[in-house]
Amino acid sequence: MTDYSMMAAQILSLAEEERDYMPLLSNAAAVIYHGMDNINWAGFYLAEGEDLLLGPFQGKPACIRIKKGKGVCGSAVLKGSVLRVDDVHAFPGHIACDEASRSETVAPIRSGGRIVGVLDIDSPVEGRFDENDEAGIALIAETIGRAADFSRLFSGCGDVSRK
Ligand code: SME
Repeated sequence: MTDYSMMAAQILSLAEEERDYMPLLSNAAAVIYHGMDNINWAGFYLAEGEDLLLGPFQGKPACIRIKKGKGVCGSAVLKGSVLRVDDVHAFPGHIACDEASRSETVAPIRSGGRIVGVLDIDSPVEGRFDENDEAGIALIAETIGRAADFSRLFSGCGDVSRK
C-alpha cells in the first residue's frame, strides 16, 4: 500500500531547503512516481489564466495545454476537489497522453486561496486508485499547496480559483 504520509513528509522536508514551486514540484513528481506502484505518469499542470500548462512530471511526454473544464485535469479544476476516474475510456473528454493509461486521479492544488494547478497521476491499471488513494493524493496536493511558494507563478485559474 502506498505510504502517502511518508511521501508528504518527504515533500515537507524538501521544502525546508527550497520552497520555490519549480524545484519543489520537480522533486515531488519524482517522490510520487517512485513511491507508488502501477503508475505510468505523475506530475503537475499549472494555472495560466484560464488554461492549465504542463509543469514538472515523470513519465512519457504529455500534452502541453489543457483548457479549464476539459479532460480530467480541467474537470477537477471546475469541480474544485479531487477527481478519481476508474476507467479513463469511459470519461467523456478524457485527454489521452499515454495510450497505456487506464485510470487517473487528479487533485487541485490551492495556494493563497486560489487553485494554482493540479496534481495528476495516471495508471496503466483500470481501477488502480481506491478511496484511500484518493484521500492520500488529496493530502499530497494539500501538502504541496501549503509548502510551496507559488509567488513566481502567473495567476490563479479564473473564477473557479476562488471556490
Ligand atoms: N489525461 C489527462 C491529461 C493529462 S495526462 O494524463 C498526463 C486529462 O484528461 O486531463
